Amino acid sequence: MRHLMTVGLCALATAFAAAAPANAADRAIRLTVDAGKPGATIDRHLFGQFAEQLGHGIYGGIWVGKDSAIPNTRGIRNDVVAALKAIKVPNVRWPGGCYADSYHWRDGIGPHRTTRVNTAWGNVVDSNAFGTDEFMDFAKQVGAEAYISLNVGSGTVAEAQDWMEYMTADQPTTLAKLRAANGHPAPYRVAMMGIGNESWDCGGLMTPDEYTAELRRYARFVGSYNAKEPSLKIAVGPGTDDTVWTEAVMKTWKERHGWSFDIQGLSLHSYTIYDGWPPHMPSTDFDEAAYAHVIKETLKMGPLIDKQSAVMDKYDPERKIALVVDEWGAWLAPTPGTNPAFLMQQNSQRDAILAALNINIFARHADRVRMANIAQMINVLQAMILTDGPKMVLTPTYDVFKMYVPFQDATFIPVSYDAGSYVHGDTTLPRLDAIAARGKDGTIWLSLTNLDPNRPLDVDAAALGFKATSANGQTLSAPKVDSINTFDHPRTVAPRSISGTLKNGAIVLTLPPVSVTVVSLQP
Ligand code: AHR
Repeated sequence: MRHLMTVGLCALATAFAAAAPANAADRAIRLTVDAGKPGATIDRHLFGQFAEQLGHGIYGGIWVGKDSAIPNTRGIRNDVVAALKAIKVPNVRWPGGCYADSYHWRDGIGPHRTTRVNTAWGNVVDSNAFGTDEFMDFAKQVGAEAYISLNVGSGTVAEAQDWMEYMTADQPTTLAKLRAANGHPAPYRVAMMGIGNESWDCGGLMTPDEYTAELRRYARFVGSYNAKEPSLKIAVGPGTDDTVWTEAVMKTWKERHGWSFDIQGLSLHSYTIYDGWPPHMPSTDFDEAAYAHVIKETLKMGPLIDKQSAVMDKYDPERKIALVVDEWGAWLAPTPGTNPAFLMQQNSQRDAILAALNINIFARHADRVRMANIAQMINVLQAMILTDGPKMVLTPTYDVFKMYVPFQDATFIPVSYDAGSYVHGDTTLPRLDAIAARGKDGTIWLSLTNLDPNRPLDVDAAALGFKATSANGQTLSAPKVDSINTFDHPRTVAPRSISGTLKNGAIVLTLPPVSVTVVSLQP
């Protein structure tokens, strides 16, 4: 497959293709970075996280309690906070997910918590020891904004109003005083507010009309009680490539009048699930075919965003409303021997490649996709971190998020290249996936993913609009597509230094097989 990435400069790519040698399969890929044609800002909120009250995502993963022998600050694990600070988590979505539509916030405040059954995830006892004040403490320790999911499914507008007032009121109301009595006199900042979760499914099995009726009321009556700190309002959006839901929400928004209500975001949920439900692709000990199939599946994110964005464009050509991909990632078979309702899975080099490809897709759509949340942060689905009692291990996905920190709030720059192809059996994938951006300090960053697990890949990067003489950064490679980090061998997959040098006017880099590389170009 001649898979030409049309990321802005087709003409240049065509010129390079003409120069390809006879053995095209192993030739270097010529890539041009055009710094003179800046695009949209790659919003730092594209690197958001999701922490649901599910399995060991919160309990054990974040919250160990103040009396735990595991080092903690007010009950929150110090090791996990330190690791998350290093990847500059911009926001954390909480408390769900499906859980959000059965969550009643008053169960989780004050000295006496209400114990419930977590009916969304495994019917296990939910102590509610981790509630609003603990979440806000956690977000503050990490340095992240709070993205709160409101209960639309089993809650009321009045309950949601009270919750927002408890969190955000900056005047001496009864609920603000209750917050102060619980240890936090100052208002919290709720940067984003989700109006329900998957209301077409676990959030209440609503029809589009039923949801838009709820949306009008929640978006009208619920919001921040602090005029200095408004909360962005995010409506439930689609979970497939069907556009009926998107049409309904966008039409409702378009037809609103004056001060009636507003939203700033439409959610999109899209997991990488290969070969149907329930998810059954193993997260460890898989072969190259399983690698290729899952990666091919994940690349559907691009066309999905295109399709949903096109509908949004009809109603919102100025792109005022962000498409918020607030659940994405690989959903694989549960780790054998674990509670299947806890959605625990290992995380391999395949997940690292998958993460980089999705982030690159979001960056290419940065004018519409301004926020995303990988599912989920710790111990659940495609996690950054796995814990077991006092032990903690960082996953290959964590390393991708760390390597991509320079792309947070950077300006997208078009790159053009002929991606070549990697073929396994009946699956054909691009061999290279690349994006570039200019950081706030002017540094040009390049991310290069070699999807081919069998061949290193030489890239010649030519820069237009600035002078580059070398490239330095890190590459995340692994011996095998299913290489993982474990508590006993925590750094089997870890980034190492890489640099490129100037030859014939281009920076030459050799990307290891199945690797993600991020370099800065030096003048
Ligand atoms: O992330 C797990 C679940 O996936 C979420 O709770 C739900 O929103 C989605 O279906």
